[in-house]
Amino acid sequence: MTPVLPVALLPIGVRGMKVLNRQKFLRNVVVPILKVSDEKVSKVTPICKNYLLKLDSFKPVQTLKPNSENSHKIIHLNPEKISQWMDFQDSEREILQKCGITEKDFDSKEIQITYENFKYDAIFKAVLPENEDTVSGFSQIGHIIHLNLRDHLLDYKQLIGEVLIDKIKTCSTVVNKNNIIDNTYRNFSMEIIAGEENYIVSVKENNCNFRFDFSKVYWNPRLSKEHERILEYLKPGDVLFDVFCGVGPFSIPAAKRKCKVFANDLNPDSFTWLKFNAKQNKVDTKLFKSYNMDGKDFICKTFKDFVIELCKGEVQKEFKIHVTMNLPAMAVEFLKHFKGLLEDKSLMEKFHYEIIVYVYCFVIGDDPYKNAEELVKENIGCQIDNLHIFYVRNVSPKKEMMRVKFNLTKSIIFGEIQELECEPPQKKICIEKDITD
Ligand SMILES: C[S@@+](CC[C@H](N)C(=O)[O-])C[C@H]1O[C@@H](n2cnc3c(N)ncnc32)[C@H](O)[C@@H]1O
Ligand SMILES: *[C@@H]1O[C@H](CO)[C@@H](O)[C@H](O)[C@H]1NC(C)=O
Ligand SMILES: *[C@@H]1O[C@H](CO)[C@@H](O)[C@H](O)[C@H]1NC(C)=O
Repeated sequence: MTPVLPVALLPIGVRGMKVLNRQKFLRNVVVPILKVSDEKVSKVTPICKNYLLKLDSFKPVQTLKPNSENSHKIIHLNPEKISQWMDFQDSEREILQKCGITEKDFDSKEIQITYENFKYDAIFKAVLPENEDTVSGFSQIGHIIHLNLRDHLLDYKQLIGEVLIDKIKTCSTVVNKNNIIDNTYRNFSMEIIAGEENYIVSVKENNCNFRFDFSKVYWNPRLSKEHERILEYLKPGDVLFDVFCGVGPFSIPAAKRKCKVFANDLNPDSFTWLKFNAKQNKVDTKLFKSYNMDGKDFICKTFKDFVIELCKGEVQKEFKIHVTMNLPAMAVEFLKHFKGLLEDKSLMEKFHYEIIVYVYCFVIGDDPYKNAEELVKENIGCQIDNLHIFYVRNVSPKKEMMRVKFNLTKSIIFGEIQELECEPPQKKICIEKDITD
């Protein structure tokens, strides 16, 4: 038999390629094979399972001479794992021999590997500069893949984009994030590097469908689990005030769960898509109100009026009010608007509602829990008991996203509280010009 040399199953001779030439990936490789009669295949495959030649669009077990008396199977093995009969473990050889498979059934065969057979990571490994960071950690939003390419990869961006479109069937647009993030709306400018220039995406999250223009609004697929965690706190009949709602990943599923929802975002595009998403998810219009205003006004008007109406109302029903504030770079600065929000102290005795705030923040430093707690206390400007702090995700090497949950008590909203000894800070702890979020 032709000796099988352990070859890495990578494309060769393509390093440095900048214009994708799919033909160049063609290569012949000698791989080990086992010849097995049709009826024995099921006995042999458990042993070969770990050694199979795994390539894209390639069947490791193939039928030779089908419909003839000599019909049998060829099992292709990975030359990096097996190069000779003795590479099987003793116990494995024993089982094979019991099935009548011996060294004479072990052979090698030359096969042709093409561009189709490589996964994108093998292609990038073979093409991009050696010993440097490769393309990693990209995310996909509907049909768009977005990358944040390092400088040394910019020359390869066109190839990278085309390979991703070839290899990831659900992707038809690849964009690279530019270093400009819109601080207000949290969207970022992006450059199209391959595929069609179409930024309108459809994604599914927490059983709802969302559609939006990814170049104009905020969306982060890494938050779906966090959205789900908050949704689990919401019970039918509860009320949600979503101060920075985006296109609705808290608000729409909350309304589907029969909560009464007040959803607000300052970005007119988010507002438009929010309403679109409410409609396409058939949200009960009686349960859903949307607003396009500054978070401050939403708190000081919409939220306040709602609480006043509650206090004036006769029936005190059992439900909770939830307030989500997901604008981590700035949300804590809006907390001060809750303090002393209601001036009319006569309402106080009628206030029996539990209001729970979920405010997000970015923190840096060694103790993210403590830092998050301090950030919230300093910004609301009064003592709060029973803060619950949750670590949401790591944003960049030293930056964490945290969620602080606390009860917005009667004493806070009626301003009957002990001021903090110290003045609210002048310094900005918020990290704003950051593209990693
Ligand atoms: C980080 S996104 C969160 C969106 C959504 N809640 C989510 O979880 O995906 C923050 C949102 O706040 C909006 N925003 C920024 N400043 C605002 C303000 N002053 N008032 C209201 N919304 C604001 C942005 O347009 C953006 O949609
Ligand atoms: C963010 O979206 C707005 C529209 O919502 C758009 O005008 C703006 O150019 C976008 N920002 C960036 C940095 O692309
Ligand atoms: C908020 O208040 C409710 C009822 O008053 C209480 O059961 C709950 O433990 C409080 N939560 C926190 C975080 O203090």
